[in-house]
Amino acid sequence: MIITCDKCKTRYKLADTITDKDAFKVRCQKCNHSFMAYKSVPEEQSLLLQEEITPDHNKIIAISNQKGGVAKTSTCLNLGMALAQMNKKVLLVDFDVQANLTILLGFRKTESFYEILEKNTKDISSSIQKTRYPNLDLLPSNSKMALLKKKYLNVDRYEYLLRDRLDLIKKQYDHILIDTPPSIEFFTLNALIASNFVVIPTTCEYLSMHGIGQINDILTIIKKEINQDINHKVLITMHNADITSEKVMFNKIQEKYRDNIFKTAIEIDNKMQESHIVNMPVVLYAKESKSAQQYIKLAQEISGE
Ligand SMILES: Nc1ncnc2c1ncn2[C@@H]1O[C@H](COP(=O)(O)OP(=O)(O)OP(=O)(O)O)[C@@H](O)[C@H]1O
Ligand SMILES: [Mg+2]
Repeated sequence: MIITCDKCKTRYKLADTITDKDAFKVRCQKCNHSFMAYKSVPEEQSLLLQEEITPDHNKIIAISNQKGGVAKTSTCLNLGMALAQMNKKVLLVDFDVQANLTILLGFRKTESFYEILEKNTKDISSSIQKTRYPNLDLLPSNSKMALLKKKYLNVDRYEYLLRDRLDLIKKQYDHILIDTPPSIEFFTLNALIASNFVVIPTTCEYLSMHGIGQINDILTIIKKEINQDINHKVLITMHNADITSEKVMFNKIQEKYRDNIFKTAIEIDNKMQESHIVNMPVVLYAKESKSAQQYIKLAQEISGE
């Protein structure tokens, strides 16, 4: 079904199964306007519109968990690389001051989102770097990103700074993956609001469940207030099934998030750490390794192929 925002005229393609009502209230992701949507659109019009609309399902993906060291950056890099190898055009956004993703891709002294905002432009294309890998681009981070929070926190629509800019270039990519820091504030909030899908990497430790709960709470608010179409799934990372406590937590997490968890789990694998040392994604460095094969499966799960 196709619906059109009364105010800004943005069109959305929704699954017919989303509701069984003929008329229902929705909120526009773009301008935040609430309007009534109707299931029956004249056939001629819907055929015309379908050609113009590219569904955004799983297109902009934030990789987020307030807990540190749960493989957010490793997931961003390897999921992105695996999607690029499936011939998808991928942009990675390093939205963390640590700039780990930027470093792992071999970049130093590049412009970041900080310089983009300082130039007072919405056009981020000149800051996007082509990586040495086909189909994989990067919007890098640098240490100046640390100043953003203080400088822009009181600016109007500060939480939309990333979304407003990705809106202009998202058509050029099949997937945009955003790496976020281990905290929920300026960067993570901007990333979540810019996204339509959130991957929540988690290890099988007791405190990790807490981290998932925190992201879920924020997503509930974002769904209610800003973007009702954002979806999320938990991704188990660095799993070691030889440790009993890990096995227990693995089952608990599977049970608790059974409708929102990836079938693929990523196991602990020395090849991942080796791949970081040589600044390569593990899906290239050791394609046959456990973790590489699992990230390739994850990419297939996400793209539905
Ligand atoms: N499957 C894996 N097997 C073994 N080690 C892994 C695996 N995935 C990630 N690691 C290691 O775990 C550490 C943390 O990974 P990473 O930097 O991706 O986490 P992060 O969540 O991005 O951390 P931060 O919260 O600091 O941003 C790194 O040393 C990385 O090499
Ligand atoms: Mg990281």
